[in-house]
Amino acid sequence: MIILPGLIDPHVHMRTPGQSYKENFSTGTKAALAGGFTTVIDMPNNSTPITTEKLLDEKIKIAKKQTVCDIGFHFGSLGDNLDEFKKVSSKAKALKIYLNITTGGFIVDEKVFESICKKWPKGKVIIVHAEENILDVILKIGNKYKQKIHVAHVSSQKELSIIKRAKKKRWMVTCGVTPHHLFLEKSDEKKLGAFAKMKPALKTRKDQEFIWKNLMYVDIVESDHAPHTLKEKKSHPQPFGIPGLETTLHLLLTAMSKKRLALKDIKRLCHDGPAKIFNIKTDKKTYIEIDESEEWILKNKNLKTKCKWSPFDGWKMKGRVKRVFIRGTKVFENDKILVRPGFGKII
Ligand code: NCD
Ligand code: ZN
Ligand code: ZN
Repeated sequence: MIILPGLIDPHVHMRTPGQSYKENFSTGTKAALAGGFTTVIDMPNNSTPITTEKLLDEKIKIAKKQTVCDIGFHFGSLGDNLDEFKKVSSKAKALKIYLNITTGGFIVDEKVFESICKKWPKGKVIIVHAEENILDVILKIGNKYKQKIHVAHVSSQKELSIIKRAKKKRWMVTCGVTPHHLFLEKSDEKKLGAFAKMKPALKTRKDQEFIWKNLMYVDIVESDHAPHTLKEKKSHPQPFGIPGLETTLHLLLTAMSKKRLALKDIKRLCHDGPAKIFNIKTDKKTYIEIDESEEWILKNKNLKTKCKWSPFDGWKMKGRVKRVFIRGTKVFENDKILVRPGFGKII
């Protein structure tokens, strides 16, 4: 049995309020526990983007009643809410800014990004969804204002090279990769169709290999758990995003069984890295137990996420989360959730 501290996923979309038919805090955090995560941080691109203190408070109130693991929240901005920043700085874990089109159509340009950098409290992270060329521009602006920038879901050689350069110049830049960019590639789109449709899109084998080779420049693995219903995925236009909370650690454990990475890498990427970047207090009595030798097949029907599908359906996994403890309480064992909604804390 392997023991790891309770994992932290700082990039999930719980869809509530507004789109609870896709996911809610109860189904989403149950999926988190089944996947070994005891803390998650929810993104602000709800159907009504979370850009005011009032909207954030309303979301927190709903989450408090539903969550089975610990949960925090990122705040959003379209550049028209700069006066809200001070009010939410102790409640939000970070600010999330979208520079490219993705779910929610919640996007700003570099001028607006600059005005945001002037106002966001220094020392608290700004997470960016910035793909390819715009990434370079954004990192320069972030550095000009001495902001800590976390680049979400890095997916290509080009993006990771830009980040490597910034890190070598000692800019305050961190980055995350998703499991789908580590384990799926562009050619999988043929077979998976809409179930491989996400932002950033899947890249080539070459990009993927570059990321694996340069994993030491990657600070975290983030699931980007972004559920949509089967029906939505089968209709047009197909929305971007795939669920990931129940597959992230299991894919990494399976890769570990093939010696592609070590346990210490998983701990760094799914615990130490996110705890440090997002300033999350950890607890010795919050931990997970893993049977590293169990071989099993991931099946859609066994998933706890409300959307009940995964691009990794049918994949052979090696290593499985058996038990999860939060502050000494056993909250998950052998696929069963042992606590009621509301058990988790708002962080
Ligand atoms: C995310 C979503 O559905 O909210 N979609 C995605 O494809 N990753 C948004 C995002 O993280 O860009
Ligand atoms: Zn994104
Ligand atoms: Zn996302």
